[in-house]
Amino acid sequence: MHVNPKLIKNQFEKSINTYNQNAVVQKIMAEKLVDNVFKIKSYFENILELGCGSGLLTAELVKHIKFKNYYANDLVMKSKYFIENIISDAVFYCGNAQRIKPLQKMDLIISNAMFQWFENLEKISFNYKNLLNKDGILAFSTFSPANFEEIRELTGLSLDYKSLDEITKIFSKNFEILYAEEFVHTMTFSNPLELLAHMKNTGVNSLTAQHWTFKEVKVFCDKYKTLYPQISLTYSPIIVICKKY
Ligand SMILES: C[S@@+](CC[C@H](N)C(=O)[O-])C[C@H]1O[C@@H](n2cnc3c(N)ncnc32)[C@H](O)[C@@H]1O
Repeated sequence: MHVNPKLIKNQFEKSINTYNQNAVVQKIMAEKLVDNVFKIKSYFENILELGCGSGLLTAELVKHIKFKNYYANDLVMKSKYFIENIISDAVFYCGNAQRIKPLQKMDLIISNAMFQWFENLEKISFNYKNLLNKDGILAFSTFSPANFEEIRELTGLSLDYKSLDEITKIFSKNFEILYAEEFVHTMTFSNPLELLAHMKNTGVNSLTAQHWTFKEVKVFCDKYKTLYPQISLTYSPIIVICKKY
């Protein structure tokens, strides 16, 4: 299913203050992303970060990668203040990353845990290639179809995740793939309510705007305990780093 950016924006606006403490897997993804970019190159003149949120990736990046100019983007305006706390002279573009048009070309475009919301990766691959200088790098993380399989099984709701193979095939048309990895990280909770709170605190509960009734929450929790007695939640991140042809 496709999710309206307005809904995504609303959920992340609500979770921006709780995100960093709860986003355990997104932190691992940010570390892997930066570590592997660093192995390829450690200085970039112009960096554009898409969907920067509360700066989890930004904070990791500044520890290892040097740059001259930093441009950051998010749908949520509040995100600007989180980024300025890390990079005081960062330029912030508020709006949809799918339509961003910076004035200058970039040397690195980087994004953690956001591409799963993009509807048309072919178009994204083509557009981002054109935002990069020659030999520019695009580095992103997203999720594969196994992500939140428990939620899909119980509610029928899921994003249209693409497999690692499908993603690398799409980006190979405009980029040379330098690094690609998929891994699985399973989180466990004491009870399903704790799991729902985890999803809310990380803003990933944006599949539907509908509020559940008390009875619907109870049915969900009872089913979860029966099907997944460990109260497990599967994350299946994908990391891709590629260079403009
Ligand atoms: C899971 S959070 C990841 C935040 C951060 N990148 C990190 O490293 O943890 C996803 C972020 O992407 C933003 N986002 C989602 N879709 C977007 C879009 N189309 N354009 C810009 N930002 C978007 C959300 O507002 C949210 O802040």
